[in-house]
Amino acid sequence: MKVCLVTGASSGIGMTTALDLLRAGHVVYGAARRVHKMEAIQAAGGHALQMDARVHGDLERVVDTVIAEQGRIDVLVNNAGTVLHGAIEDVPLDQARDQFEVNVFAPARLVQLVLPHMRTQRSGTIVNVSSIGGEIALPLGAWYYAAKHALEAFSDTLRMEVEPFGIEVVIIQPGIIKTEFEDQTAAQLREFSGKGAYRDVAEAMAQSSEGGLANGSDTDVVADAIRQAIESDRPETRYAVGWMADKLLELNRTLPDREFDELVTRKTK
Ligand SMILES: NC(=O)c1ccc[n+]([C@@H]2O[C@H](COP(=O)([O-])OP(=O)(O)OC[C@H]3O[C@@H](n4cnc5c(N)ncnc54)[C@H](OP(=O)(O)O)[C@@H]3O)[C@@H](O)[C@H]2O)c1
Repeated sequence: MKVCLVTGASSGIGMTTALDLLRAGHVVYGAARRVHKMEAIQAAGGHALQMDARVHGDLERVVDTVIAEQGRIDVLVNNAGTVLHGAIEDVPLDQARDQFEVNVFAPARLVQLVLPHMRTQRSGTIVNVSSIGGEIALPLGAWYYAAKHALEAFSDTLRMEVEPFGIEVVIIQPGIIKTEFEDQTAAQLREFSGKGAYRDVAEAMAQSSEGGLANGSDTDVVADAIRQAIESDRPETRYAVGWMADKLLELNRTLPDREFDELVTRKTK
């Protein structure tokens, strides 16, 4: 039985992961802005903590609460995240900074907060939920891909730094998963790039995203990988899971850059 903190537990992958870990007998704290959306976690015996990843003091309060109530923390699942769409030329840098705040600096701060406890325990697992976008990049999503690439480099360094203390670091790379995640995509594309030089590609991508994620995988495939990683003595360093994950990563690793670019842009040209 492990004491786990799962961020972004009010919907999608985080919610399924929190419920899955509870079913497996672990102690689970979910954290997100919308506490009322975590009732299912509380009903299943878990805890729900209000946290805005961008608000100074929220992250500290969340970790302090877990330690005060349980005396330890075994698992941090850095899952909370947002996406940002629009051409590089169009997206205001304040939005880009916000994207890095939620997707990079908040997970990094939580890592800083849990490490002293995990080092004392000489055990722990940090799971950083990245994306296939932590290795590949597509048009009109630069800041999301940049943030996930940053999270992966951060995680690779962290893994080497904390291995001597018995702490594991795991990167999860979901493919396309059916959640609320892409709900704002079409609106963002039209807001930032719907009128200027990138309007045709932005509109094509907006319409394609409005088609929904019918082929996307269910959140269970990601939750399964996270639980496997947490319960393993020697987890993989990366788990690529869900629709298109293995295929796109393999193509990106093997094709020359311009062939990959051609492949992923041909529908929106
Ligand atoms: N769905 C996909 O296809 C996909 C693919 C690759 C990677 N991922 C990654 O998977 C993770 C989870 O995404 P999801 O698909 O499950 O999306 P989701 O359903 O939109 O869930 C996102 C979660 O992040 C939380 N969150 C967002 N902004 C926050 C903030 N400022 N402070 C605290 N919590 C915040 C949300 O909670 P509140 O709004 O209540 O705060 C929500 O619980 C993300 O890191 C995402 O990059 C998703």
